[in-house]
Amino acid sequence: MRQPLVAGNWKMNGSSESNRKLLEELVSGLETKAEVLVCPPAVYAQQVRDQLAGSVVKTGLQNVSDKSSGAFTGETSPLMVKDLGIEYVIIGHSERRTLFGETDEDVAAKFNALVDQGIVPILCVGETLEEREAGDTMSVVASQIEVVLRAAGPERLANFVIAYEPVWAIGTGLTATPEQAQEVHAEIRKLLAKDNADMAAKTRILYGGSMKAANAAELIALPDVDGGLVGGASLVAEEFKAICHAA
Ligand code: G3P
Repeated sequence: MRQPLVAGNWKMNGSSESNRKLLEELVSGLETKAEVLVCPPAVYAQQVRDQLAGSVVKTGLQNVSDKSSGAFTGETSPLMVKDLGIEYVIIGHSERRTLFGETDEDVAAKFNALVDQGIVPILCVGETLEEREAGDTMSVVASQIEVVLRAAGPERLANFVIAYEPVWAIGTGLTATPEQAQEVHAEIRKLLAKDNADMAAKTRILYGGSMKAANAAELIALPDVDGGLVGGASLVAEEFKAICHAA
């Protein structure tokens, strides 16, 4: 049985004061069987980690370099992530791919760099509206996953998370229907099973894309949906807490 994971992707939002208040409200009265994670901008990682110390909520990040150290201005090394005791990092988010030119190969290198430091990657995949309307959803998603699986090799696939985030649902309020989500999640699990049935059975596949308190329970109850990667709703404590309670 896979424990649900609910991860909040704060994107480029927050301040020391708003973070403090959000986290205070989030942990107060939080009751959930899910694993809960918040992913602030890297500049706030230590503040968030320190405030969450002793709570059930974990801290993650939204991106990482595949380099360990050196002249890479502005980058964050997996060694630094490990140094902070951070367990999860989102990689390959569609905003990184479209706005910052990250390729499948870039994402695969980040995946390996994280796993080599014992950090769990949350690998984001998903199609654009044009790709969906062209009937290319699964070929796009499968290609994004297969590049990572091939580069990782079997030895690096013991513990990772996939987040299916249809690009057309991100930030739009247009959530995938349960049928759409379950169809793609089931296909992703079948793809993983071609490599290793046990790995496929235990790998958590999150849904992301306008997940809200109102739709979270129905989505997370689906056979192949193991939680959510939540953007906007994670910035509102009560909304995010409701999603955690629904998981
Ligand atoms: O990574 C999660 C994010 O892309 C989803 O954003 O605002 O649609 O929940 P949102």
